[in-house]
Amino acid sequence: MNIAIINGPNLNLLGIRESVIYGEKSFEDYLVDLKNKFPRVKFSYFQSNVEGEIINHLHQTGFEYDGIILNAGAYTHTSVAIADAVRAIKTPVIEVHISNTSARESFRHYSYISPYCKGIITGFGLDSYRLATVAFMD
Ligand code: DQA
Repeated sequence: MNIAIINGPNLNLLGIRESVIYGEKSFEDYLVDLKNKFPRVKFSYFQSNVEGEIINHLHQTGFEYDGIILNAGAYTHTSVAIADAVRAIKTPVIEVHISNTSARESFRHYSYISPYCKGIITGFGLDSYRLATVAFMD
């Protein structure tokens, strides 16, 4: 099984950024653990702070991979264009968030992306990505 993980803006700063909310581990370190937990899954990882690059990557992976785990960061709450890309591709997408966005500021409560996703996992810290992987495997 091939799973593409796509992280959006500011998620390159995990481990540095607001560690009370997002934890102290970098995504690169977490990815090593994730790959060890699922030796039979082939993960690719892409992060960008640029909306169009995230869309391009959805297009590139969205007809070839078995699943996409997408944390679009703040674009979740603003981007019709990313939502359209999720809608346009064939590969099922699971939306993930590290924090529980529903328990935070009201502008984080709405996701443009959720309606086009297979499901949503939010609020479990970096473990949200493991849970999304399990969801694709079942
Ligand atoms: C986030 C939640 C978003 O509201 C925020 O803008 C992020 C990270 C999360 O993983 O908890 O950048 O997607």
